[in-house]
Amino acid sequence: METQSGQSIAVDREVRFGAVRYPFHIRAGQESWVDLRRALTRLDADRFVVVADSGLPATTVAEAEAQLSRVAPTIVLSADATEKTKTLETVNTLAEQTIRVGATRQSIVVGLGGGLVGNVAGLLAGLVFRGIRLVHLPTTLLAMSDSTLSLKQGVNSRQGKNHIGVFHPPVLVWNHLDFLRTLAPEEVRSALCETVKNVLAITPERYDELARLLRTDARYADVDLAAFIDLCIDAKTAVMAEDHREKQSALVLEYGHTVGHAIELLSDGTVHHGFAIGLGMLAAARMSRELGGLDGADEAAHHELLDRNGALTSLGGFDTDDVLRLIRLDNKRGYVRPRTGACDFVLLDGLGRPRITNGSMITQVDEDTVRVGIASIQSEQH
Ligand SMILES: NC(=O)c1ccc[n+]([C@@H]2O[C@H](COP(=O)([O-])OP(=O)(O)OC[C@H]3O[C@@H](n4cnc5c(N)ncnc54)[C@H](O)[C@@H]3O)[C@@H](O)[C@H]2O)c1
Ligand SMILES: [Zn+2]
Repeated sequence: METQSGQSIAVDREVRFGAVRYPFHIRAGQESWVDLRRALTRLDADRFVVVADSGLPATTVAEAEAQLSRVAPTIVLSADATEKTKTLETVNTLAEQTIRVGATRQSIVVGLGGGLVGNVAGLLAGLVFRGIRLVHLPTTLLAMSDSTLSLKQGVNSRQGKNHIGVFHPPVLVWNHLDFLRTLAPEEVRSALCETVKNVLAITPERYDELARLLRTDARYADVDLAAFIDLCIDAKTAVMAEDHREKQSALVLEYGHTVGHAIELLSDGTVHHGFAIGLGMLAAARMSRELGGLDGADEAAHHELLDRNGALTSLGGFDTDDVLRLIRLDNKRGYVRPRTGACDFVLLDGLGRPRITNGSMITQVDEDTVRVGIASIQSEQH
């Protein structure tokens, strides 16, 4: 992706989830490295063990390594950003390497990559010597605006995504926007679907601001990228401040993820996570309308933001029954007692207003209504 530079960016925030606090910075350009070195020096590490995303350009990894080496001895390990290799075996191999190169409790694991490698590095940091410090240098917009705003570090089991993990906070997140210049536009649009979700489900007062910023070509200036990230910090900290384990108020972050996950799985990864979640939000919005929650204007607002982002708003070539089958296996099962013929959903009663049913953010929706929601995103209907 190309970004226009020129304006210097310096956003310094502190993220607070429960008792956990960590600094979260956004920078661009050469000053970013100077400031990063200063922040890293303060951490007084005896060594950095960088887990670098193997999909990054070699120059990106070399630059990061050169900068970190000026602060402390730096070792670079590599991890592939694929869901197949996002496993405990990969973490174990990295842990063996980490210990073999002489890491101590004073060492710091640095995740240099997207959300996937960030999770692998995060779990590694959480396990080595029962937990050593973690620094995130995210390289995708999703990692900058979503996955590093979470304490969850997990890898996949053979049964499903992110089944094995720990809560392990970073001590520093450094968002160096220059990294995003090599990212595919599709990755940017996909990440922005989660930003759309945050605004629809948590901070609708930011609707106009987001609508103005979004553009279908995904070519953003650094200031716009920083604005997206800032918007996500506000939304995520609002719901996670008192729920850092993401089990109550933060469940709203799962909006759109029920049908979304099913579509992602059915497409065998060809539909990006964010696009699948966008479709999932549209299905959920229609269900909510059926149940008297959202109105037509609210549903149109979903379409407008997704359209402005150049995201999918309908999809062909899938079967409602296949989606339903996968939804029944969805991982939110267990929050409320399952009921045959109904599926668990996070729904909205208005923009920014999650529906609460019997004190829970999970609503059991009759399968007939679920079918109406799914049908609304099937492209032959349009
Ligand atoms: N709570 C959490 O921890 C949390 C939240 C959201 C997502 N996640 C996880 O994050 C992962 C998705 O993260 P993602 O969307 O960042 O995708 P990703 O990490 O899979 O990266 C996408 C692709 O972009 C490449 N890439 C990364 N940075 C690049 C750059 N600067 N230039 C060029 N290519 C680059 C990667 O090699 C990969 O091929 C999933 O595994 C998901 O489970 C975790
Ligand atoms: Zn998501």
